[in-house]
Amino acid sequence: MKDCCNIKYLLLFMAILIGLFFVFKKKFIKKIRFNKTIISKVVSAKDKEVLKLLNKALADEWLAYYQYWVGSKIVKGEFSKEAVVEMVQHASDEKRHADMLTEHILKLGGIPILDFSKLEDISGCGYITPPALGDIKIILEQNIEAERCAVKFYKNFLTQLSENYQALKKDIEMILKDEEEHEVDLNVILKNIIE
Ligand SMILES: [Fe+2]
Ligand SMILES: [Fe+2]
Repeated sequence: MKDCCNIKYLLLFMAILIGLFFVFKKKFIKKIRFNKTIISKVVSAKDKEVLKLLNKALADEWLAYYQYWVGSKIVKGEFSKEAVVEMVQHASDEKRHADMLTEHILKLGGIPILDFSKLEDISGCGYITPPALGDIKIILEQNIEAERCAVKFYKNFLTQLSENYQALKKDIEMILKDEEEHEVDLNVILKNIIE
């Protein structure tokens, strides 16, 4: 009877040991996997430079988005209907650009700007406050200035990208094309107002 109880205790003890082994084994594997993730996200010096430019561009896109969005709400004057159509479309394009840039930031192991109050400091082109009275001519001129700055920025960005950044290069070229078209769209309306 005593031997029987001893065997039972021994079996119970072994079961506990096996259980503990599997619990700790799982945790150990998780730890190794976690470390591997960290290692794979080590960012090279060149990637760091590219990430800085990407976050600069991201700040510009958000500011451009807001500038178009708020402009479309307050713009007044002849051809304002046409201007609103363009501005709403451009705002949507700038938001799409922000999404594209963010995907590249994350792929490179970076973090998109988290502090919204830092957008203007980080941006390359800044924010041009639209006139409170919504003068269409001033708003269009401001947006054209912002687009010209964006075109210059993205052209320079492309010169910084080696063949190792093919996918990013392709996306920056697409964004640059959009910015050039934005400038043309706004100039068409401005020309109609002036003439
Ligand atoms: Fe944009
Ligand atoms: Fe634009």
